[in-house]
Amino acid sequence: MINILGIESSCDDSSVAIVGDGVNILGNVVANQEAYHKKYGGIVPEIAARKHMEHMLPVLDHCFNESGLTIDDIDAIAVTHRPGLVGSLIVGLTVAKTLAYIHQKPLIGIHHIEAHAYAACLAGLKYGTPHVALVASGGHTSLLRMSEEGRMALIGQTLDDAAGEAFDKVSKLLGFGYPGGPVIDRMAAECNHTGIEFPRPMLSSPDFNFSFSGLKTAVMYHRKKHSESSSEQIATAFQEAVVDVLVSKSLQATQKLGLNTLSVVGGVAANSALRRKFKEICDKRGLSLFIPPSRLCTDNAAMVAGLGYQKYIRNLLDPLTLGVCSHSGMILQKM
Ligand code: KG4
Ligand code: ZN
Repeated sequence: MINILGIESSCDDSSVAIVGDGVNILGNVVANQEAYHKKYGGIVPEIAARKHMEHMLPVLDHCFNESGLTIDDIDAIAVTHRPGLVGSLIVGLTVAKTLAYIHQKPLIGIHHIEAHAYAACLAGLKYGTPHVALVASGGHTSLLRMSEEGRMALIGQTLDDAAGEAFDKVSKLLGFGYPGGPVIDRMAAECNHTGIEFPRPMLSSPDFNFSFSGLKTAVMYHRKKHSESSSEQIATAFQEAVVDVLVSKSLQATQKLGLNTLSVVGGVAANSALRRKFKEICDKRGLSLFIPPSRLCTDNAAMVAGLGYQKYIRNLLDPLTLGVCSHSGMILQKM
């Protein structure tokens, strides 16, 4: 078996994983920083970088213990090097380079969005299957056309806030905790009638782009004008609008590209209403749907190590001079 050690630190989760042959998760440890960012209502980049410094080596030890392997069993080291918070990325990349240098292992730089898309392969999708991938997280909302050999093309993206960011901002606005996605998800599960219909932004536009900041403003005005609506009802109606847009646009893209396979990944893919709606519609239309379990939707190093395997067997290695980059470097393709 080829074992790849994966390291992920692009945002606020410090994670290390070991994956065998691209799909067997032998260890996957995530140290979450929620408690440190909660009082600020969002991620503070400097705190994130400092906490990665504290967490990364204990997480590495923990992962080796969980897998029962040692560094001698590792064939290569894969690490997220873009896009993300620069200070956070530097911590993971420095750990990866140090290990690669000392133990003479190949280094593989991983694109965070491509890693999220690979999470579908940890849930049964065959790598290289042409499909549409929706990556919806706190930092990104992207529709990708994935082709043979795993090549990805950006076919739609958010023009302002990412879907997860909108969940977090609306949650803050309504006085709920951070991160907003899981809080609103739980609340919506208990709320069966809202009586509120928020707009579905960009739903009728011919492209596959998204926009969520207007929806956030609509929530703000509704709260001011309608004291009869509870915060729970507003949050639920907001979630319904986001889910509706994400599902509809992804299906439109699948149809336009003539593909019959769809994957939904990234932190927002942990949302239970979103998962339910995708499943319902894909079942109805006969589309193959891949949504990883929640722990593989949010940031984790298993997706990094898994994708690292695919690069390793294709000899797509990087030098020890590899740097970090805050942006994705992806250019929107004309459809
Ligand atoms: O992928 P991720 O862990 O980190 C980034 O790369 O951004 O995504 C984190 C985002 C946060 O905005 C969080 O509120 C959202 O994913 N999220 C959810 C749920 N769980 C996490 N959004 C909606 N419903 C959830 N259950
Ligand atoms: Zn992410």
